[in-house]
Amino acid sequence: MTKTSSFSAPKGIPDYVPPGSAEFVAVRDGLVNAARLAGYGHIELPVFEDTALFARGVGESTDVVAKEMYTFPDRGDRSVTLRPEGTAGVMRAVIEHGLDRGQLPVKVSYAGPFFRYERPQAGRYRQLQQVGVEAIGIDDPALDAEVIAVADAGFRALGLTGFRLELTSLGDSTCRPQYRELLQEFLFALPLDEETKRRAQLNPLRVLDDKREEVRALTANAPLMIDHLSESAKEHFDQVLGYLDALGVPYVVNPRMVRGLDYYTKTTFEFVHDGLGAQSGIGGGGRYDGLMQELGGQPLSGIGFGLGVDRTMLALAAEGKSAGDSSRCEVFGVPLGEAARQHMVVLAARLRAEGIRVDLAYGGRGVKGSMKAADRSGAKFTLVLGDRDLFEGSIGLKDMATGEQRQVALADVLAEIRTAVAAAD
Ligand code: HAM
Repeated sequence: MTKTSSFSAPKGIPDYVPPGSAEFVAVRDGLVNAARLAGYGHIELPVFEDTALFARGVGESTDVVAKEMYTFPDRGDRSVTLRPEGTAGVMRAVIEHGLDRGQLPVKVSYAGPFFRYERPQAGRYRQLQQVGVEAIGIDDPALDAEVIAVADAGFRALGLTGFRLELTSLGDSTCRPQYRELLQEFLFALPLDEETKRRAQLNPLRVLDDKREEVRALTANAPLMIDHLSESAKEHFDQVLGYLDALGVPYVVNPRMVRGLDYYTKTTFEFVHDGLGAQSGIGGGGRYDGLMQELGGQPLSGIGFGLGVDRTMLALAAEGKSAGDSSRCEVFGVPLGEAARQHMVVLAARLRAEGIRVDLAYGGRGVKGSMKAADRSGAKFTLVLGDRDLFEGSIGLKDMATGEQRQVALADVLAEIRTAVAAAD
């Protein structure tokens, strides 16, 4: 038997522990709030679903489905998969609950963990956190612009500035098949290796995304979708760009952009941050015309995004910024003596009832140990109460920023703390 002396989190799966977890919460909530401001309702979905849902929805030829899914039989021998992304699950739920038969567009947002068995590295995890939105049922360029602008606003509200938005159009069902043939004709004429030829057969667009220098050189003059858009796809894309201009959302058109999921049509975009190294995509999304029908629903179009919370945290750190307040509490209570402790416990509960974050020194650590704990807590104010103070009806209030301490009447302490905390904000 092997002896296990300690456990660690599974490979490539991050923990979010205090104080850093405050940054995680602030980033996630900041991005969710941007969606809420645009009227997206919360949707909470299962963390695992039928394997076939993702195989069909995301696409069998994608790396995500072919190589990265956590798929296993459950105890009833059904094949289930930990969700690798959110869009397919949203479609399933929208169809199942008939939301697509109500008011359109259906606008939902979600936040949570997704699972991809990728090679872990900086910014690439096997459990990743996303905030996503989907707007389903209306094919309007203004909606594309809204989705993009919501992501842009979410990043900016967190203080992030060093990112760029890249977008393109992947065409629609009228121009995409013709373009695919054109691209394949071009690729088949190139001296490509067998593996790449196979990829050209299966998913020619992906060859344009090949990172190898020699393949890049060979495909430098490849035909691009953006030059072969149907009239209506071109008109749609031009209108999206027009709205983005009007909204003041900066962008660059990148006609060689290739996304890792198969369902995209028309507007497709990615937010890229240069401070992150290889894993530079902090978010991405696009329109998906055929997905809902593919999953058994009505032929409705949709558009959405998934923003990477982990990578957004790294991007903020790369910019030397922080979105979260890592202090656990605003006020820290130091009781010195048994009677003082009893009083302090109740006082802390009353302050908390007013919405003030309060922590206490536990375990009778003495003045020195307790004041050290107060320091470490990051609290703005410390309340110091000895049995004697209690007898005299006063309490010490220390401003941790200035180090100043004064005695205030116990009867006034709630009001004093309220004012002090408000003034310190
Ligand atoms: P995605 O581009 O595969 O799109 O993922 C969205 C974002 O999730 C990425 O831009 C990245 O920030 C983050 N992400 C992806 N994989 C990892 C990883 N292994 N580690 C850390 N972060 C990661 C989707 O998932 C689509 N469902 C987005 C969408 C919604 N399209 C339309 N609607």
